Amino acid sequence: MKVLVVGGGPAGLYAALLLKRRHPHAEVIVEERNRPDDTFGWGVVLSDQTVANLRAADPVSGAAIGAELHRWDDIAVHFKGRSIRSGGHGFSGIGRRRLLEILQARCAEVGVTLRFETQVADDIETRVLNEGLDLVLGAGGVNGRYRQHFAATFQPDIDLRHCRYIWLGTPRTFDAFTFDFVETPHGWFQAHAYQFDDAMSTFIVETQDRTWEAAGLWEMTEAQSIAFCERLFAERLGGAPLISNAAHLRGSAQWIRFPRIACASWVHWIDAGARRVPFVLVGDVAHTAHFSIGSGTKLAMEDAIALDAAIAATPDDLAGALARYHAERSVEVLKLQNAARNSTEWFEHVDRYASLAPEQFAYSLLTRSQRISHENLRERDAAYVADFERWFADRTGLTTAPAARPVPPVLTPFTVRDVTLPNRVVVSPMAQYSAHEDGTPSDWHLVHLGARATGGAGLVMTEMTCVAADARITPWCPGLWTDAHRDAWARIVRFVHNHSAAKIGLQLGHAGAKGATKKMWEGIDQPLPEGGWPLIAPSEAQYLAGVSQVARAMTRADMDRVRDEFVTATRLGAAAGFDWLELHAAHGYLLSAFLSPLTNHRTDAYGGDLEARLRFPLEVFAAMRAVWPADRPMSVRLSAHDWMDGGTTPDDAVAMARAFKAAGADVIDVSAGQVVKGERPVFGRMWQTPFADRIRQEAEIATIAVGAISDADQANGIIAAGRADLVAVGRPHLANPAWTLLEAARLGYPGTDALWPKPYLAGKAQLDRLLARERAARAAAEGAPPTGELT
Ligand SMILES: Cc1cc2nc3c(=O)[nH]c(=O)nc-3n(C[C@H](O)[C@H](O)[C@H](O)COP(=O)(O)OP(=O)(O)OC[C@H]3O[C@@H](n4cnc5c(N)ncnc54)[C@H](O)[C@@H]3O)c2cc1C
Ligand SMILES: Cc1cc2nc3c(=O)[nH]c(=O)nc-3n(C[C@H](O)[C@H](O)[C@H](O)COP(=O)(O)O)c2cc1C
Repeated sequence: MKVLVVGGGPAGLYAALLLKRRHPHAEVIVEERNRPDDTFGWGVVLSDQTVANLRAADPVSGAAIGAELHRWDDIAVHFKGRSIRSGGHGFSGIGRRRLLEILQARCAEVGVTLRFETQVADDIETRVLNEGLDLVLGAGGVNGRYRQHFAATFQPDIDLRHCRYIWLGTPRTFDAFTFDFVETPHGWFQAHAYQFDDAMSTFIVETQDRTWEAAGLWEMTEAQSIAFCERLFAERLGGAPLISNAAHLRGSAQWIRFPRIACASWVHWIDAGARRVPFVLVGDVAHTAHFSIGSGTKLAMEDAIALDAAIAATPDDLAGALARYHAERSVEVLKLQNAARNSTEWFEHVDRYASLAPEQFAYSLLTRSQRISHENLRERDAAYVADFERWFADRTGLTTAPAARPVPPVLTPFTVRDVTLPNRVVVSPMAQYSAHEDGTPSDWHLVHLGARATGGAGLVMTEMTCVAADARITPWCPGLWTDAHRDAWARIVRFVHNHSAAKIGLQLGHAGAKGATKKMWEGIDQPLPEGGWPLIAPSEAQYLAGVSQVARAMTRADMDRVRDEFVTATRLGAAAGFDWLELHAAHGYLLSAFLSPLTNHRTDAYGGDLEARLRFPLEVFAAMRAVWPADRPMSVRLSAHDWMDGGTTPDDAVAMARAFKAAGADVIDVSAGQVVKGERPVFGRMWQTPFADRIRQEAEIATIAVGAISDADQANGIIAAGRADLVAVGRPHLANPAWTLLEAARLGYPGTDALWPKPYLAGKAQLDRLLARERAARAAAEGAPPTGELT
């Protein structure tokens, strides 16, 4: 077997050494265009897990790398004159140059042919033929040219990110992984610094592209850039210089924009006469993960491990081995790239988070990738989390006795106007299709909402309650347009008030073009075979093409009527005693359809740009706000993303939130999608929370996050980081009305008696004991907490 490896970075060298070690008779050649010690960059971070993987794959180089690692535990965040530290993170750093030296020496030892100062040209097909190569590895790094040469196969997707960064070194040592944030008149600059040997640290400076430009860095020489950074971070550097080793880069090229790279395929087959020879991607050439999660080298070397193992598993089936290599690694890469995406975006938007208090800013930074949860942080550093919780609880008006465990963020109260919710959990509105056919809520609603209120949530929201008979989704949706409706709702409100600490909110809406359908479980969005009613929408519309009833475009007279129906329902809701009112302007229903450019094609004052599309929903909102008691809050539910080209984007959602805030909204309930069929949402845990985060920071309004929030740990993280003020939990509440009680008990926080209905307290004591036993068993089984990743 004859193998050519293009590029002598960590991926190429490590793959070469593993292959040669396993196949001593093979000829393995690495061609590297640079000299052996010519490397750019400074230190790299490796997690404990990666180091263990390296030790297992090749104990000799693993031991040499292990001996050189500089270890540290803490992360320090310097922001607005404060320094906040959290521990237990357990990283290891190594100089990139030292790592390459070790790999080069080990390659030489096992018999790999190393050719430095040898640039592999674009004639690879000829070389395969002439030199009888059996396998070619493309390991040329971020700019590896073969990705483009075989672009038709690899289908690279390259997304150049918005920040500029420069990778510097400094003889200043740091006893923690250090993040330093400095504000200038042009914007924020941040440094990511970590020590990687006894005397040196990596010091990466990063800033938004527009800040970089405004600060004039684009026209500075490298020396001027470095002097600029030294002045900016003088306090952190303590007089130590910053040093560049990117000697081959000149002028503004030293400041790079990070390319996020993904390739659909990693294997290209070269036709070499009677043979087909694979050209296989490993490392950065195939995929990148932003430096802020410190995983590029790890991914590159773990690719090499997986490739070697796959070939060894089926030596007679190279095609099968390579297919398995790609299948296995692409899943791992995707997971890390998702975490890296969140992290990249966090650093791209430091200005968004800069208004947070330093405590919350640091917490948000530590949990930015959504991979480290609140309880993970507690496992790493219980004192840090306790201090943070104390600070958070204090801000909500609670006092924590010195020795007492602070109230977890999700269980802290939340006050809007004159209403205080006892905790941050909201039962998300969920249609039940169980009302009487005249729109009166039934005993089902009393039990459904009552059970969830006694189940511990802070706010229980009704399902979309319709403002008129023809505003309903189905004939079994509840409404609020008669005194009888009011009285039936008042009975439910009374139950909640009399038997729980929860508050109860009313969600009011109009189905628009999505009306007159069957019950969800008889055919979601399917039109009623008979007994339907005429539908209205901003523009003529058919929700399901060729299936739904066609809704006609509303006239101004229709708009007046609908607005007045919302006002009547609001008055009746106030009289029924609801604590909170939510206007449903999401999910493609009538008001949502005004907001989205995909469903609003009007040419009058209510269609066109966002300001025009907002006009009618705002008119309705303002009319409701005028009659809804001033001491009670109002929220608006929005779809922050249509997941469709040409539709609402999170940018638009921020603008919508600002407009509703100006009209008197207190809270935005941030959902997404369901506006048009054919949408392409990107699901995942807590998948809509980033929109709530963005709206909260940019529109400066309280938000409710919703969507695949499945436990109190996640909820704690969201509230603690200030990504939202409340978390709404939908489907888990259908499975368990006492979701909040169970999750609060899972946290092991002792002070939750007040959440429990008194008749149920005996159940709590037993549940607490069982859960404590489960926790102890889990801790014993899992051993030490996971550490060692920047995420
Ligand atoms: C600022 C910054 C900080 C980083 N921090 C970390 C970190 O903390 N932890 C971490 O794990 N990773 C980090 N990384 C990422 C890490 O450097 C890369 O992920 C890693 O080097 C990828 O290894 P590779 O072998 O795929 O590519 P590279 O290291 O880029 O190596 C590719 C090699 O191929 C050579 N080459 C290219 N084309 C040819 C050709 N045609 N012929 C011959 N030779 C060629 C190049 O000269 C180069 O030596 C960081 C990256 C940056 C930019
Ligand atoms: C059965 C069902 C009915 C729903 N009805 C409504 C509704 O009436 N109003 C609304 O705004 N959202 C409605 N939703 C959306 C939920 O409020 C929530 O946003 C969604 O289920 C995501 O949260 P989850 O992942 O916690 O379930 C409904 C969801 C489900 C599952």
